[in-house]
Amino acid sequence: MIVIQAKDYDEMSLKAYEAMKKVLTEKPDAVLGLATGSTPVGLYKLMIEDYKRGLVSYKRMTSINLDEYVGLPVTHPESYRSFMNRNLFDHIDIDIANTHVPDGLAEDLEKSAAAYTAFAAAHPIDVQILGIGANGHIGFNEPGTPFDSHTHVVELKEGTRRDNARFFDNDINKVPTHAVTLGLKDIMNAKFIILLASGSGKADAVKKMIKGTVDESCPASVLQTHPNVLVVADEAAAYYLN
Ligand code: PGA
Repeated sequence: MIVIQAKDYDEMSLKAYEAMKKVLTEKPDAVLGLATGSTPVGLYKLMIEDYKRGLVSYKRMTSINLDEYVGLPVTHPESYRSFMNRNLFDHIDIDIANTHVPDGLAEDLEKSAAAYTAFAAAHPIDVQILGIGANGHIGFNEPGTPFDSHTHVVELKEGTRRDNARFFDNDINKVPTHAVTLGLKDIMNAKFIILLASGSGKADAVKKMIKGTVDESCPASVLQTHPNVLVVADEAAAYYLN
């Protein structure tokens, strides 16, 4: 695990993009593992800027997103499909048919989850972008998720729903109770993982991920066993590392 400490959010985004750009320029048909949330938005802006400058093309790339809420219409502004379209896909030349987000509306969620894992297995992720939850979750793999899990439906912890209420009029009751997420085993199959962390709310999780025991109580700690992980944390998120 390589850890880069950045001074602030913008520098975190830039350092993460520099590492990602190597893959984007060397592999025009790369498979990108993408994440939602506030943390990767700055990185996505840098991807869009370079695309607009003609430096990178996403025409032949495929994307696989980590997760989606269950039961939220895809047209809802806070669905992760809407988030990805608005923050990245609408602004680059990726073929929308090659962008994949788990189906939170599938009639048979288990079957759809198994198909998502099969798709990911057939399209190995070249670079996986991750955020981290205050409780150490990656994707929506909450504490206690087995390290050998594949795509599955998860009941969100109250703390996670509280953290995400800011996107739902600050009303926790409007935050969906369940989500479907790529499993830890699927995430660990990625060839290269870049985890971004910003803000003091992530400091404890970042410390446990890097310095704690590898244990299902902190899902991100599994990354200690991956051969190619870059963590980019801003000063506040890296607070307990020094
Ligand atoms: P955030 O979410 O980027 O909005 O902080 C990260 C996460 O929960 O994985």
